[in-house]
Amino acid sequence: MPPAEMKFFILTLWISSLISIHCQIITLNGAWRGTINICDKKPSEDCNNDMNFNATVPGGIYTDLYKNNIIEDNLLGRNDINNRWVGNQSVIYVKNFKVSDNFLKARKIVLVFDGIDTFANIYLNNHMLGETSNMFLRYIFDVTDFIKKKQNQLKVIFRSAVKVAEDLYNEQKNYYVVPPVCVPKEYNGQCHINHIRKMQASFSWDWGPAFPSIGIWRDVKLISVNDILINDITTDIRKENNVWNILITIFLEATQSKNEEFTQISCHIASILHITQNKFISNISEVVLDASKKYININISLIVPADAVENWWPNGYGKQHLYYLTTTVTTANDVLFKRIRIGFRMVQLIETSLKKGLSFFFRINDIPIFIKGSNFIPASIFPELGAKEDTIRHLLLSAKETHMNMLRVWGGGVYESKLFYDLADEYGIMIWQDFMFACAMYPMSDSFLKSVKEEISQNVIRLKNHPSIVVWAGNNENEAALYGNWYGTGSAQVYREDYVKLYVNLLKREMEKLDLTRPFVVSSPGNGAFEKTYNYTGVNPYLNLYGDVHYYNYIRNGWDITQYPQTRFCSEYGFQSWPSIYTIATAIENIKDLHIDSDFVKHRQHQPLGNQYMLQLILYNFVVPQSNDSIRDFASYIYLSQINQAVSMRIQTEKYRQTKSEVNSIGEGMTMGALYWQLNDVWQAPSWSSIDKEGRWKMLHYYVKDFFAPIIVTSHLSISNELSIYIVSDRLYTLTNCTESNKAIKVTSFWLDAFLSEVGCGTLESAKRSCIAILSLTDKSGSLIAPINYIYSDALKNADIPVANITMKTKENHLPGKLSNYADFKIVLSTDKIALFVWLETNIRGRFSENGFHMFVKKKEIIFHAYEATTVELLQSNIKLMDISNIYNAYT
Ligand SMILES: *[C@@H]1O[C@H](CO)[C@@H](O)[C@H](O)[C@H]1NC(C)=O
Ligand SMILES: *[C@@H]1O[C@H](CO)[C@@H](O)[C@H](O)[C@H]1NC(C)=O
Ligand SMILES: *[C@@H]1O[C@H](CO)[C@@H](O)[C@H](O)[C@H]1NC(C)=O
Ligand SMILES: *[C@@H]1O[C@H](CO)[C@@H](O)[C@H](O)[C@H]1NC(C)=O
Ligand SMILES: *[C@@H]1O[C@H](CO)[C@@H](O)[C@H](O)[C@H]1NC(C)=O
Ligand SMILES: *[C@@H]1O[C@H](CO)[C@@H](O)[C@H](O)[C@H]1NC(C)=O
Ligand SMILES: *[C@@H]1O[C@H](CO)[C@@H](O)[C@H](O)[C@H]1NC(C)=O
Ligand SMILES: *[C@@H]1O[C@H](CO)[C@@H](O)[C@H](O)[C@H]1NC(C)=O
Repeated sequence: MPPAEMKFFILTLWISSLISIHCQIITLNGAWRGTINICDKKPSEDCNNDMNFNATVPGGIYTDLYKNNIIEDNLLGRNDINNRWVGNQSVIYVKNFKVSDNFLKARKIVLVFDGIDTFANIYLNNHMLGETSNMFLRYIFDVTDFIKKKQNQLKVIFRSAVKVAEDLYNEQKNYYVVPPVCVPKEYNGQCHINHIRKMQASFSWDWGPAFPSIGIWRDVKLISVNDILINDITTDIRKENNVWNILITIFLEATQSKNEEFTQISCHIASILHITQNKFISNISEVVLDASKKYININISLIVPADAVENWWPNGYGKQHLYYLTTTVTTANDVLFKRIRIGFRMVQLIETSLKKGLSFFFRINDIPIFIKGSNFIPASIFPELGAKEDTIRHLLLSAKETHMNMLRVWGGGVYESKLFYDLADEYGIMIWQDFMFACAMYPMSDSFLKSVKEEISQNVIRLKNHPSIVVWAGNNENEAALYGNWYGTGSAQVYREDYVKLYVNLLKREMEKLDLTRPFVVSSPGNGAFEKTYNYTGVNPYLNLYGDVHYYNYIRNGWDITQYPQTRFCSEYGFQSWPSIYTIATAIENIKDLHIDSDFVKHRQHQPLGNQYMLQLILYNFVVPQSNDSIRDFASYIYLSQINQAVSMRIQTEKYRQTKSEVNSIGEGMTMGALYWQLNDVWQAPSWSSIDKEGRWKMLHYYVKDFFAPIIVTSHLSISNELSIYIVSDRLYTLTNCTESNKAIKVTSFWLDAFLSEVGCGTLESAKRSCIAILSLTDKSGSLIAPINYIYSDALKNADIPVANITMKTKENHLPGKLSNYADFKIVLSTDKIALFVWLETNIRGRFSENGFHMFVKKKEIIFHAYEATTVELLQSNIKLMDISNIYNAYT
């Protein structure tokens, strides 16, 4: 398309010569000064009240005070409690800065805060600019009249979120209580987070500590404006009759010049989609803006023939093609341009009638996709650290490498950073995006609803260009809490009315204006489209015949596949385990803490009865070693907790995958999604995560790679001892005559006991104690096309497991690293007997190609992918090896 091409080159010349003159940005990130009253730190002693400290923006009070040695390491020992006084204080952040004459020449200057946590009054040169009260909002202040030549002072005075929440609760309870009144005592948390618009998990959760943070957690900048300021550019992309229709909307603020009553601003707008280096599709528009209106939206449309671009695909289905779209707005005094990145993909949530109930599955580019993934909690309990590139990249890559195609950004955290969604776009990780409401009732004051309305509008506009986001969801478990009376709301009508007010009348309706290119579900778990028929409350949201389900059971044996629901979509399910002892070691103050009954162990477990549940679940399948060496016992216990989690999750996930193409006699099944709880951690504690706080993969994460593989061979043992074998394929082609494309098929069924009696393992009893069945699926040439799988015919605590002597040799470091810039190492393992759950661990950063595996052969080679520089010798001496026989044998 030659004309577009030419236009583009003209534009670039223009931009490069003009942009620096007409639009300037001054960052106010970096070094600030802070002040906090420290009398509450040690109330009994004299204190000189206010203490100054060096602050960082983006930042937060807990990280700042630690860097200034005013408080101890927040994540060490019980410091979540020792440092709690911090969250009760008022804090002042100050920045002194200069601006140039040239900068001040602009008609208007705005101050932009991308995120303030949470309650602050903002002053420039002692003039109050405004107040903030919602952590999820961007705030823009017009500072034209208050900014000076030379020295300026920006001051942000924060009030304690704990105190504000308490005040709001006390005010509200004059009318009626909006529960929960507080979190369970095991959380060591703060109360009333539901009254404020702040990361709900920052007042504690069952997997995390309370750090009621305060700070400027995202960027701050000054922007000089002449005619217009572009706040956002969004795209709505739809496919109609073989063309992609892109509706581009430019959200502007116009500047009215001081002397004139109203101004008309002529704008020339050009949008260019860059297809290849020399192929573009563009459109232009001329509009006259009425500057007496502050906020103005302009639309421009681009028609893109479907065959001119490549589709964006989820991980496992094709490439993640992404395209840049540049929009330039030119006025008499401005040339502004913004580049965004988009992808072309269609998303549909299919809820059509089945024999009973409705289906619930995602169709991307017309392909039904079995959703495989996990739930993402904030990457740090300190919001300012939640967008650290190495952390986010590691977590999302760990999702991609284990065949995940979706993460659910859970409603108790934050709307994540641009980096997070950019990487999700690049890795093909679809995002189920909750709005930030979780496990609570919420107040309905006008100010609260107004704030929420602005929050959803801003965040949807900020995020909707990302092709990775495929569904919006109103809240986490709030319908379930109401239905199940979790917080004593009983049959009171007011809570049901409030629920509908917030999630249906406000959120759902707003979403109909903000984004109709994606589906919206009111709650997770929920009954999807069925909810409308009963006005969204009053029916069990966990119905297997509709929508999504969350399933947890800590009473039954996690290895018993018959307990798991046959559901349309399981969006949460999980089991706890302890993180690596190396990770725990970064949190303990005393070696005595490494004891199964230590105060540290109790302190870190927030789930009521969590430690008892975990022990009982392990005891279904293993004996827990007890000796005179408590550290070794603790290490064995951690190991067993990880095995139990890994195998339970494997079996549960396989159940969901087995029922992909079948329904049972009561119409349950056609399962099309498995998102386990949870991917990551915020501290060193027992939790449901598969990756711990230090980024280490637990055994579960190694297992995820197998049980989410595109093709699996898997078994189902019924209560009556009937063993069925399934082959499940997410591939869109047929590989052998027993893998059908995109289907789960039951290939055979037989009585397990009869089978064991026949295979020559002796009597049935001895066969059960001494045989593990191996499932392998090969193609005609004999190559494996699915990960090896196992059937444990009896609890392993009853098995005769020989004592294995496993030796390990780290071989070479000539291998170029495949997953990082560092070397890969070959590790050769030898054993004299079969060995179960062979587990390698090291404090050198990196991961193994596989781990937690069984050895039925004498030799096995695996790879260690290093994430830091190391040597053969260091690695050899730093790897610890465990297997099941070994943890018991140590004591005999
Ligand atoms: C605070 O910053 C100043 C100026 O950069 C520096 O001299 C001082 O050492 C810092 N104080 C602390 C406690 O880091
Ligand atoms: C912080 O304030 C809350 C609410 O007023 C109060 O319950 C708590 O005891 C205070 N905590 C500390 C450590 O001062
Ligand atoms: C822009 O498009 C949206 C969606 O079609 C429409 O609601 C809105 O009125 C349009 N705005 C203008 C200024 O044309
Ligand atoms: C440019 O915009 C006009 C007006 O909306 C539209 O009719 C036309 O199809 C657009 N052209 C392209 C190439 O998108
Ligand atoms: C749902 O609400 C509508 C409108 O308020 C009402 O007409 C209808 O009877 C309600 N349905 C149920 C099942 O409560
Ligand atoms: C545990 O007991 C064994 C045998 O009685 C003894 O050799 C060993 O030193 C003891 N270990 C510890 C840590 O006390
Ligand atoms: C499929 O398997 C059956 C039985 O094992 C075999 O007889 C048949 O030839 C196979 N078909 C194909 C197309 O490979
Ligand atoms: C384990 O195997 C290694 C290497 O084969 C051998 O040197 C060692 O003596 C064995 N250890 C035991 C306890 O059998």
